[in-house]
Amino acid sequence: MRLLLIGAPGAGKGTQAERIAQRFGLVHISSGDLLREHVARGTELGQTASEYMNKGDLVPDELVLTMLREPVIAAAEAGGYVLDGFPRNVGQAMEAYDIAKPLGVAVQVAVYLEVARESLIDRIVERGKTSGRADDTREVVEHRIAVYEESTWPLLDYYREREQLLQVDGDLPVDEVTDSVLAQLERVRATL
Ligand code: AP5
Repeated sequence: MRLLLIGAPGAGKGTQAERIAQRFGLVHISSGDLLREHVARGTELGQTASEYMNKGDLVPDELVLTMLREPVIAAAEAGGYVLDGFPRNVGQAMEAYDIAKPLGVAVQVAVYLEVARESLIDRIVERGKTSGRADDTREVVEHRIAVYEESTWPLLDYYREREQLLQVDGDLPVDEVTDSVLAQLERVRATL
């Protein structure tokens, strides 16, 4: 199975992606985690990316696509993937489709985690006390949410029209969100 998660900052994409990957034997690929690894290693990509990440802006599409190309193809060949944080806009989705479709590794299902704005901010500000992430402050997360609303929201229509889009209430306790996501994915898996 090849799927991706869409949700605002703090919606629980990373938390749920790990659980989905474990249940279905998929590879969890987080664009944010991979970018933070580059930043920590001080690679050229990481140095450029950190300027955008610290402000809560999106890293340029071509950097992200170059970084993800090989891991995504390898994961698809190994049995499937859960993408967390990619694509972030319709341009990324279209470029990824053009690369993946001829290889037979395009995404099949998109899962949208819907969470109220106040919960997002509370979660991120709370995490910021210990995460060490420069973008986990109230000011930056408000900007990240604005970027999400402008750039990432259009993906919901994009996937609704093209693939299967599942919607989950992400404002429930973590285990309840997981139960709901897994139940919907079990149903969809039977139709793939
Ligand atoms: P990224 O790392 O993807 O950050 P994000 O999308 O802002 O998401 P978060 O990791 O903050 O939240 P999440 O939805 O994964 O929630 P989580 O499970 O962690 O991106 C960071 C930056 O990298 C971007 O701003 C951008 O600069 C760059 N970037 C990344 N991808 C890019 C791309 N494709 N293109 C361009 N730039 C890109 O949970 C959050 C917190 O809430 C945790 O503390 C968790 O324990 C808690 N929590 C989770 N679920 C619940 C629940 N149900 N109830 C209560 N608490 C919960």
